[in-house]
Amino acid sequence: MVYSQPHVYATIFALSVLKACALDSYIAAVYEHSVILSEDTKIPVSPEDALMLMNKNMDVLKGAIKAAALQGARIIVTPEDGIYGWVFTRETIYPYLEDIPDPQVNWIPCTDPDRFAPAPVQERLSCMARSNAIYVVANIGDKKPCNSSDPKCPSDGHYQYNTDVVFDSEGKLVARYHKYNLFVTETQFDYPKEPEFVTFNTSFGKFGIFTCADILFHDPAVVLVSKLQVDTVLFPTAWVNTLPLLSASQFHSAWAMGMGINFLSANTRNSSLDMTGSGIYAPNGPRAFHYNTETENGHLLVVELSSHPRLSPTYPIAVNWSSYATSIKRFSPDDRNFSGVIYFDKFTFTELTKPEGNRTVCQKDLCCHLSYRMVEKQEDEVYVLGAFDGLHVVEGEYYLQVLSDGRLINQNGTSKAVLSVTLFGRWYEKDPPHPQQAFP
Ligand SMILES: *[C@@H]1O[C@H](CO)[C@@H](O)[C@H](O)[C@H]1NC(C)=O
Ligand SMILES: *[C@@H]1O[C@H](CO)[C@@H](O)[C@H](O)[C@H]1NC(C)=O
Ligand SMILES: *[C@@H]1O[C@H](CO)[C@@H](O)[C@H](O)[C@H]1NC(C)=O
Ligand SMILES: *[C@@H]1O[C@H](CO)[C@@H](O)[C@H](O)[C@H]1NC(C)=O
Ligand SMILES: *[C@@H]1O[C@H](CO)[C@@H](O)[C@H](O)[C@H]1NC(C)=O
Ligand SMILES: *[C@@H]1O[C@H](CO)[C@@H](O)[C@H](O)[C@H]1NC(C)=O
Repeated sequence: MVYSQPHVYATIFALSVLKACALDSYIAAVYEHSVILSEDTKIPVSPEDALMLMNKNMDVLKGAIKAAALQGARIIVTPEDGIYGWVFTRETIYPYLEDIPDPQVNWIPCTDPDRFAPAPVQERLSCMARSNAIYVVANIGDKKPCNSSDPKCPSDGHYQYNTDVVFDSEGKLVARYHKYNLFVTETQFDYPKEPEFVTFNTSFGKFGIFTCADILFHDPAVVLVSKLQVDTVLFPTAWVNTLPLLSASQFHSAWAMGMGINFLSANTRNSSLDMTGSGIYAPNGPRAFHYNTETENGHLLVVELSSHPRLSPTYPIAVNWSSYATSIKRFSPDDRNFSGVIYFDKFTFTELTKPEGNRTVCQKDLCCHLSYRMVEKQEDEVYVLGAFDGLHVVEGEYYLQVLSDGRLINQNGTSKAVLSVTLFGRWYEKDPPHPQQAFP
């Protein structure tokens, strides 16, 4: 095709206008919410009582959304189960659910609340987004009627889904995501038939969304990043901190770094369940995080992020560790190894008795080599090096092994005492089938 000169100028002009509208950076917010729980979730309540409880939580979220918008935030993430809590049966969650339409219907609940059945929660969230001109991400429950024409239809005549919704700054519903990897205790919800890969575009980057335990699995989490190339992941969660491998700030920040994306994680706060740890994480490290062991309070984080981290000058260069990994010589073997259990997985360990040293510990084909030096070791402290290669089977089934090219180096020491240092590898191909696919 041949363009005349004026046409080319017009094209260049249009491109530069587009560029001016797109933002290189934006302000993001996450809110760690101390959820107000129902007094009794074993007996069903009326829809009015359910809404009353949800309104109490939304009153709190409204304050956080407003405060975030006043600080210039373009988007705010609120936690999983943040509007009604978590301990329910299939029957007792029902009054809390709304029918959430496919975003393709192009709906602003705030200005057109009656278009789809009663939807007071969607209406209120939409209005909070609209009146503060901010994207609002929330987690609520979706119900979808079905009948015997669908062989998988539950006997009570509807599906119930753990669902994330996103309303844009005009209050329009722009994303709906049904959680694919339910946690074992979430018997109140159904698995969607297929994983959903939900993304949406904004002037400040492309976004993807998934929920809590989804982070441990390939679909949809890895696909959103590697295939759909999102810039930022939105992550509502109700995460129980489980040391030494699965503490919220540690794990979510590591996922952002490993996958090379921004990650906005909003956790719930509950001290008796060890739920805390929210953050705004970038590929080169945490930008802001909150880990609260003192109070039951909620907490707002607001910080600036690159809209397209892959284009940012500080984006970490991809490294191929393979040649390094294959060149490592195993350190002197240690026959004083022993077995121990971490979160139900049987590790092989060796104790780090000396102030500095080089150690190797192996399990099956997996060997871990460690060079270390301790600045200080208290009388009551014990440090060990451990390896695990196998299928984790409690509270979710997933295969763990650090692949042959894993490496972690710290040259400058740490600013605080080390609690745990972990190379956490997932071998997705060795996972058992997803529950929805395993029992058709
Ligand atoms: C059963 O569900 C299908 C699909 O959702 C719908 O088209 C049909 O009208 C329903 N049948 C009855 C009897 O409700
Ligand atoms: C987002 O924008 C890209 C091009 O910038 C386009 O290819 C993609 O289809 C858009 N995605 C959505 C969900 O609109
Ligand atoms: C934390 O969660 C537990 C279990 O759901 C509940 O009994 C307790 O009341 C919650 N704590 C607070 C402060 O809400
Ligand atoms: C990494 O390096 C190894 C050789 O050491 C090579 O075989 C492999 O293809 C490289 N991987 C990538 C992704 O470049
Ligand atoms: C401990 O190390 C010895 C020698 O390296 C090895 O033969 C043995 O299998 C190891 N024991 C465990 C529990 O890994
Ligand atoms: C550990 O190994 C490194 C080389 O990999 C060597 O420089 C160092 O002296 C060793 N440290 C000890 C305590 O053996």
